[in-house]
Amino acid sequence: MIFKTSVANLQSTVKILMTPGRGILAADESETTIAKRFEGLAIACTEENRRRYRQLLITAPTLNHFISGVILFDETIRQRSDDGRLFGTVVTELGIVPGIKVDLGAKPLAGSLDERITEGLDGLRERLQEYRSLGARFAKWRAVITIGEKIPTAYCLEANAHALARYAALCQEAELVPIVEPEVLMDGAHSLERAFEVTQATLESVFAALRSQRVVLEHMLLKPNMVLAGADSPQRPGVQDVAEATVRCLRRTVPPAVPGIVFLSGGQAPQLATAHLNAMNLLNERLSWPLSFSFARALQEPALEKWRGDPNNVTAAQQLFLHRARCNSAASEGRYTTALENEPSVQSVSAVK
Ligand code: G3H
Repeated sequence: MIFKTSVANLQSTVKILMTPGRGILAADESETTIAKRFEGLAIACTEENRRRYRQLLITAPTLNHFISGVILFDETIRQRSDDGRLFGTVVTELGIVPGIKVDLGAKPLAGSLDERITEGLDGLRERLQEYRSLGARFAKWRAVITIGEKIPTAYCLEANAHALARYAALCQEAELVPIVEPEVLMDGAHSLERAFEVTQATLESVFAALRSQRVVLEHMLLKPNMVLAGADSPQRPGVQDVAEATVRCLRRTVPPAVPGIVFLSGGQAPQLATAHLNAMNLLNERLSWPLSFSFARALQEPALEKWRGDPNNVTAAQQLFLHRARCNSAASEGRYTTALENEPSVQSVSAVK
């Protein structure tokens, strides 16, 4: 049973997260994932370096012009900025909503080869209470679907959809807005058409489970993949093809009651992810939901590469990060142009917004 106060809280969180022209920063890489990203750039993966890096992101000047929410990781939501404030407090004071990744990662799916199921439901109700007390107002759970010769199986889609729905129902009970993230991976050599078919089946399965587990669609956000050909596919669909396929797939599967769709970037080159989002928002179609972003790599990659753990690079890294945030903000309103890529961000930001 959801009470009036919970409804008001969930609604106001959704409203802030979906403010026009803003999107979500996913800064919730698990320790293993951030270790991989740091390792590639020879950055020591210590707790202090992870703290300094996340601090760099959330203290970038004018971030709140472009970013409405930040997804943190269990370690990160407990960390503090140099001035002693919890990261959740730092972003809240900027009008940005703190969120938390609550799944415990994708593990091998029993009885299946090469498929995975996301774990983390045991004890979730209690963990959500704690995250709420640490300031979180929304949460994220990612399911991973791989395309291969005989996969995904219906078994894998159903198991992951069931877990996503159980997570979402528990979040709403705890007054946290669930971001439901079923990611169909771009790994592989599959075609755009195959990605379409699998994304459609995945979303159908997810919404059937959400309905049967009484998740209130108005109080959640969907974080899907864009419909892309596999990274190893010889097919190279254009930006317009991807935009059209993605929107067609979403129209077939996502009920209009869902208040917003925030895409993951999934390993696309940062500028391409921005161009795809922009093209979707420029399609001459009336859509039931706003389309924005909840990117990790496509927002962070240039900044991380610049920073490399060196305090002297913080300002330059923040500028690169803000630049991607600003381009994606524009794309979420169909205002992105390649000319924007060449404009320096930070110095001109206040004048532009
Ligand atoms: O779970 C994945 C993140 O929330 C999105 O990451 O934009 O790098 O795909 P990505």
